[in-house]
Amino acid sequence: MTPNSRVENLLQKMTVEEKVGQLHQVYCESPVDPAGIRAGEIGSIIYSNGAYAGNDRQTAIPADETNALQKAARESRHGIPLLVARDVIHGYRTIAPIPLGQAASWSPADIEACTRVAATEAAADGINWIFAPVADVGRDPRWGRVAEGYGEDPLLSGTLIAAAVRGTQSVEGVAACVKHFAGYGAVEGGRDYNTAEITPHTLRNVYLPSFKAAVDAGVKTVMSCFNSLGGLPATANRRLLTEILKDEWGFEGPIVSDWNGIGELIEHGVAEDLRIAARLAMIAGIDVDMVSKGYRDHMPSLIAAGDISIGKLDDAVRRVLNLKDSLGLFDRQPADSSRATSVQLSSANQETVLDLARKSLVLLKNRDGLLPLGEQRKIGLFGPLIHARQTLCGTWNLDGRESDVVPLETAIRAQMKPGQELVMAELADEAIYRARSCDIAIVVLGEHHAVSGEANSVTRLELPHGQEQFLEGVKNLGIPIVTVILAGRPLAIPRVLEHSDALLWAWHPGTVGARAVAEVLFGVCNPSGKLPVSFPRSVGQVPVYYNRLRTGRPLDPLARGESRYVDERDAPLFPFGFGLSYSSFRYADLRVDPSGDGFEISCRVENQSPRSGEETVQLYVRDRVASATRPVKELKGFTRVSLTAGAAATARVMIGRDDLGFFDAAERWCVEPGMFDVWIGPHSDVGPAGAFELK
Ligand code: GLC
Repeated sequence: MTPNSRVENLLQKMTVEEKVGQLHQVYCESPVDPAGIRAGEIGSIIYSNGAYAGNDRQTAIPADETNALQKAARESRHGIPLLVARDVIHGYRTIAPIPLGQAASWSPADIEACTRVAATEAAADGINWIFAPVADVGRDPRWGRVAEGYGEDPLLSGTLIAAAVRGTQSVEGVAACVKHFAGYGAVEGGRDYNTAEITPHTLRNVYLPSFKAAVDAGVKTVMSCFNSLGGLPATANRRLLTEILKDEWGFEGPIVSDWNGIGELIEHGVAEDLRIAARLAMIAGIDVDMVSKGYRDHMPSLIAAGDISIGKLDDAVRRVLNLKDSLGLFDRQPADSSRATSVQLSSANQETVLDLARKSLVLLKNRDGLLPLGEQRKIGLFGPLIHARQTLCGTWNLDGRESDVVPLETAIRAQMKPGQELVMAELADEAIYRARSCDIAIVVLGEHHAVSGEANSVTRLELPHGQEQFLEGVKNLGIPIVTVILAGRPLAIPRVLEHSDALLWAWHPGTVGARAVAEVLFGVCNPSGKLPVSFPRSVGQVPVYYNRLRTGRPLDPLARGESRYVDERDAPLFPFGFGLSYSSFRYADLRVDPSGDGFEISCRVENQSPRSGEETVQLYVRDRVASATRPVKELKGFTRVSLTAGAAATARVMIGRDDLGFFDAAERWCVEPGMFDVWIGPHSDVGPAGAFELK
């Protein structure tokens, strides 16, 4: 870390208590008492009303208030500005689809644009530290926080995380915070905060790559996770926080503990009291203490007793001060409160988010081309979520307002043609009564947003009670059914699939997401979303993911009777990368050509339909023989092609030599010569196959 003269001068002048103050983060709701800030006892605040902020409504933060707090900070003895943090997970005032939905776009450019919008809107209220993006690879839909990440694949997740970091930090004076480092997505049983028992081999090859992508993209801060990893809580895990993140990866920013993570070391049973917990966390590499008060209450005496060296303390404070300096906070003008009104929820921001929402929708079934809707005269809109507003925005919506949300009815009516009629019913019996006279029924089902996100793990993956029966009731009338699902996780929906003639997965699509849904239903938008997670047939299959390691008895998911389960097939209901279009794309002529130190893999993609469309072409490889067990296949690249009716193009994906490497059981990075199988196609289960030899 190159010395920064302003920071080094400050470190020379600061007392131990003032240094500790920079590592102390308090949580607050409006209004905040500035006394502690003015006294130099608080280096950062997080606007939040508690540990489960993602599921509670939050009081808004007026820019005038953050300006007043920054003024108090400037009045402190050294005038060190304040870091003001907020969980802006998928939008601030203009709410984007949940990150898992965003991932279905496979579009780094759209995610970069949307995170820039979110950071711009948050910065207008004086927020300068955004506790996002979430880099947790999620293979278990029972875990509610699978909603917050970018899916099950390390490469897709890492590519999109890097885009989110770039977008967030492209806004002057704003730092991103990649979280939750690391392995949180592997909590046993999908139960939040539980133990994560993963080998170093899996940690390195599956759960760390997306964090490494964030660090390589220049993320300014990292948040540690709650769970223990290999028997040691992340908050006290020196191997993870210092040896890997700081030493091996060269990360120079501060690590902040997650909410009371230091205090929770007592519950983990590795610290008898908060003083010991504070010592363990500092030694492990935690720089900022989120709300436990352990650093404030015990770090001065730990320093005085020589349990923590002043050098160690200075390293943590230096990281915080360097961050504040790199954000320009020492010279930053107060946030212009009038700007918030013009910036937040602007039409341009809504359009940016709408583009991502369009690309996030996944068409899972479209029997006989039922969609897009045509001349049906009487359209039924039925289901418990047809008037949803908050649920459209999903979990971790702290600043999006219900009144801003475009509901489905409004969006659908905007697409209807003269002479078409819309009838609606939320109750099952009324829906059946009204459906009898309809030409088509749109049935909107799914999860309430409150059962998604943090502290919301489930043991069942079917639709909420009664919703399948609702659908069956309408189905019995024999009219065509388009099912639209709103959810924060993959669900096990084999019967829903059976009863639906068309099925559109909309996730929780955000403030203007209903407009995207209506545009797809009426054909204004040709769906292009591809699943970033495998969909299980039943909760009993979980965890089910495409890039499983090879075994001595390979599965043939397509073969009947070959299942390893007596009572279920092995294949997921939908594979990773799956998604239909109103167009139909044909793949052919896979080629492998040497290029640089790797290969160019290409194939011809033809749009055999009468309408233009976009397709995300995916490239998978299998390392046939290696010094460690490797996955049956791995995503190694993807590219989006846009094809007009009848047109064809060559899709190309480059693979460098290093892209074929892996960490072995001893955590050594290996790139080994040998034969590789290669597939290129519309999802992880099919496509033209080829092979190449890495010399
Ligand atoms: C929560 C979450 C974390 C969030 C933090 C502050 O418990 O785990 O994602 O940033 O606390 O709200």
